[in-house]
Amino acid sequence: GAQRALIRESWRRLSGSPVQHGLVLFSRLFDLDPDLLPLFQYNCKQFASPQECLSAPEFLDHVRKVMLVIDAAVSHLENLPCLEEYLCNLGKKHQAIGVKVESFSTVGESLLYMLEKCLGAAFSPDVREAWTKLYGAVVKAMRRGWEP
Ligand code: HEM
Repeated sequence: GAQRALIRESWRRLSGSPVQHGLVLFSRLFDLDPDLLPLFQYNCKQFASPQECLSAPEFLDHVRKVMLVIDAAVSHLENLPCLEEYLCNLGKKHQAIGVKVESFSTVGESLLYMLEKCLGAAFSPDVREAWTKLYGAVVKAMRRGWEP
């Protein structure tokens, strides 16, 4: 009901430039946990700095992919279970890449940071709570990729 409307309305406000907003999220993520940088390698090449990573075309594609997954969750608020299998597989891929499941908490913090920065006054405590719940549901499904 009300929480879904808050999610849709706040996400609509950010719909104009997903990559810009995704970059706010990932800049924050590398600030909070610089050890995540080496996990992003394209053609076996490691980035020398977060700045280099944040401007690489392959990484910008990943930013776009992340924003599309969030967009899919927002579009399926009424029926998140239909994304469960996709998200479980996505979790498995990240497990194979070497991502630790705990890192998704830092991603969640970075998502809330991005929403706060980009929504400004529209980022109310209710909006925070609604997003915390939605992100929690997405991570819950992805977590299954780490289970035996
Ligand atoms: C693929 C790393 C978080 C969505 C990948 C790849 C890497 C990676 C290295 C493969 C190369 C590429 O496609 O660019 C990470 C790291 C993360 C993270 C280190 C955080 C610690 C996320 C999150 C989402 C996501 C939060 C979405 C909610 C995707 C998608 C793909 C992908 C959709 C493509 C999968 C495919 O090829 O089928 N990620 N990722 N990633 N990631 Fe992430």
